[in-house]
Amino acid sequence: MATNRTFTMIKPEAVAAGNTGKILDMIIEAGFKIKALKLTTLSKERAGEFYEVHKERPFYGELVDYMSSGPVVAAILEKDNAVADFRALIGATDPAEAADGTIRKAFAKSKAENAVHGSDSDENAEIEGKFHFAANEIV
Ligand code: TYD
Repeated sequence: MATNRTFTMIKPEAVAAGNTGKILDMIIEAGFKIKALKLTTLSKERAGEFYEVHKERPFYGELVDYMSSGPVVAAILEKDNAVADFRALIGATDPAEAADGTIRKAFAKSKAENAVHGSDSDENAEIEGKFHFAANEIV
């Protein structure tokens, strides 16, 4: 995967609240192109694997339960400087600290239920994209 791609998930509370379309609109308006997209549900095992890097952190169990609690929308996005620009678009982990105009400011409910995931590096963007999408599902 080229270094100008990132990976995102719209998290269960945002999908359940009917905010998928509005969030995708913000992403497209910000200049990202959708290269892969699916509505899917993560089993506890798959959610645990996806967030394995956080295994030792106190919130890991709750995070896995939450991320497997309902459908998510997974996507691969393309743009120059995709990883950093997408992190700026989603805003701080805690919505109380997220800047105006960010997705988390608009839609996140709490630090745990924070509407969207965004990869934190080019390397993780590639790993996370491949975790969710087969080669023939990426355009
Ligand atoms: P992290 O990678 O630190 O944040 P970000 O998603 O902004 O890169 O944490 C991953 C997810 O773990 C985060 O989106 C929500 C959850 N989380 C909690 O539930 N509680 C916490 O205290 C933290 C730091 C994260």
